[in-house]
Amino acid sequence: MTNNKPRLLTGDTPTGKLHLGHWVGSVENRVAMQNDYDCYFLIANMHAFTTRATRFAEIRESVLDIALDYLGAGIDPQKSTMFVQSDIPAISELTFFFSMLIPFSRVMRNPTIKDEIRDKGLGDNYPFGFLLYPVGQIADILAFQPEVVPVGEDQIPHLEMTREAARRFNQIYCAVDSHINDSDYVKAGGLFPIPQAIMGRTKRLIGTTGPDDHGNLLKMSKSLNNAILLSDDPDSIKKKVMGMYTDPNRLKATDKGQVENNPLWVFHETFNADKTWVAEAEERYRNGSIGDVECKKQLIDVLVEIIEPMRQRRLQYANDMEQVLQILRNGAERANAVAEKTLKQAKDAMAQLY
Ligand code: TRP
Repeated sequence: MTNNKPRLLTGDTPTGKLHLGHWVGSVENRVAMQNDYDCYFLIANMHAFTTRATRFAEIRESVLDIALDYLGAGIDPQKSTMFVQSDIPAISELTFFFSMLIPFSRVMRNPTIKDEIRDKGLGDNYPFGFLLYPVGQIADILAFQPEVVPVGEDQIPHLEMTREAARRFNQIYCAVDSHINDSDYVKAGGLFPIPQAIMGRTKRLIGTTGPDDHGNLLKMSKSLNNAILLSDDPDSIKKKVMGMYTDPNRLKATDKGQVENNPLWVFHETFNADKTWVAEAEERYRNGSIGDVECKKQLIDVLVEIIEPMRQRRLQYANDMEQVLQILRNGAERANAVAEKTLKQAKDAMAQLY
């Protein structure tokens, strides 16, 4: 598994199963990049404890669900390394050192942290570890010295902090000049490349339900009950699409319909490979010469064709959980080899090898 391909690291917090938003935001890219990158996929179970420390059994379920979702989606354990965060002690050790390079006020200004405090209604009742998790994410990433990190839009602030920490470490402990270009840090003697985010073709997929009180369509999210999962069977997909929010002012097929901001068409545009059909059907929808049901049926076929092979592969693995656990253990062994080496190099740079 050692090779000189560029390294890729990314991960997910195990708080539920993966859905189509994850697929177009990042997972699709990961599957496609497996051949050209040395890939590490981390299941961030410690981060799940930030908001559900009492629900530890659920976290375990979600870890295994994410592993199954990865395997179902086509992540190949022969090519890529998938592992559980808490199996990698070097990540926690590096977190402590990186936490010294990021001002507290910087964490509090992180937009994703602010959004999460608001959206999850945390008020000021979050644990200390909640503010630590973005620093932990810096360690998740830099422990693997990756060149690229495929993530959804919401993770960009965390990646920006990671880039700052990498620059700072390289400047302080590896004597790299602060005026250098991001791409030159390693050449100049830095330990950490400044990793780049790679975003999916759809930055923020909306869900299947209608707008909020402000008229905005909400992003797909399991907790909002508007998600189509990568593990949904054809019947569930059918029910979800048939019940999907469309143009509320269109009562019959001969009414003129609105295509913009209409989940039905957002989904067709995102997932239907038959662009000609989509363009024609959108035109007919606009002038009231095609029914919702016909368009929804078409969408069901498109989604089942994408999801059903994933679900079948997932089922095969789910029938042999011992094999899945073995994949995670093998992954941890490979990941530990890399992260231990980074930790040692970091301690060496900080003059803390004794
Ligand atoms: N915070 C990410 C999420 O909630 C999960 C994550 C943890 C991650 N560590 C990471 C993503 C490192 C990319 C790289 O989805």
